[in-house]
Amino acid sequence: MTKYINQILQGNTVEVLKQIPSDSVDLGVTSPPYNKGEKNKGWLVKNVKYNSVQDCVKEDVYQQNQIEVLNELYRIIKPGGSFFYNHKTRWDKGEMFHPIMWLTQTSWTVRQEIIWDRMIAANIRGWRFWQVDERIYWLYKPIDKNKIGKELQSKHSLLTSVWRFPPERNNPHPAPFPLELPTRIITSILNDEAGVVIDPYCGSGTTLVAAKLLQKDYIGIDISEDYISFAKERLQNCQSEKKKVEEELQKHFVEKTFKERKLNKENTGKFKNYKETSQFIHKKERSEALSLFDFAGL
Ligand SMILES: C[S@@+](CC[C@H](N)C(=O)[O-])C[C@H]1O[C@@H](n2cnc3c(N)ncnc32)[C@H](O)[C@@H]1O
Repeated sequence: MTKYINQILQGNTVEVLKQIPSDSVDLGVTSPPYNKGEKNKGWLVKNVKYNSVQDCVKEDVYQQNQIEVLNELYRIIKPGGSFFYNHKTRWDKGEMFHPIMWLTQTSWTVRQEIIWDRMIAANIRGWRFWQVDERIYWLYKPIDKNKIGKELQSKHSLLTSVWRFPPERNNPHPAPFPLELPTRIITSILNDEAGVVIDPYCGSGTTLVAAKLLQKDYIGIDISEDYISFAKERLQNCQSEKKKVEEELQKHFVEKTFKERKLNKENTGKFKNYKETSQFIHKKERSEALSLFDFAGL
């Protein structure tokens, strides 16, 4: 196993995963290719095409491949470990494809569906309302058939099931996620513990950078040599991205337990106590949230 630690492996994800020993990885985060049907460069959204593979196969072939990848990930993640899978709802000729369609065909327990509000996205046509959301599925590998697992630490308790991050802009990769996203996941699940974090479609290395800056080990996989060399360069210079990680960490510091907060009638997730406890929330989000509360007369 040690030969894979802090490495980026080049190849087809499902084949590379087969080489990794079972029950050896603590946590995973990824955004796979979405099978967006792009044969040619997007006519309105520029740079949407990956450089090594076409993101265009028959939908049933795509879903079967994702099931195989997810089951390999299930094998290599330790019991009690988690995998966070970013995807979105898609349509083809009016037919909707929802990620839950294939997630429920894998070995994973779906622990939560998180809405990622990206605030902006390319609005190509008007058949539907402007789709600015994506999903992040928290997938869990039970220990001894216990599907509930451990609670999150109290310090993460002001974070909700809606995550609001704009897309990453300063990255030459065609579809990176923002550094805050894997940072939130890694710090919420592993806290101060050591651990190995895998991203099986690591692209520009965003998950790996977050893992390194949070003092965790990582394993990355991607098919593209160019993206891998960019990710390696990024990892070498990752200290320059530390500020974003620190800003995210500021959102994780509620000290009292749920029980203590309930006894003191402090915030337990109810809106009416929100103003008193909003000092826990990052300044920018707080002012946005407070203006909404003022607007709603709360
Ligand atoms: C959505 S991107 C991931 C971006 C990444 N989260 C980031 O922040 O840069 C998906 C990645 O999967 C890679 N990819 C596509 N098909 C693959 C396959 N069969 N095996 C391995 N990697 C693949 C692409 O090269 C691309 O970098």
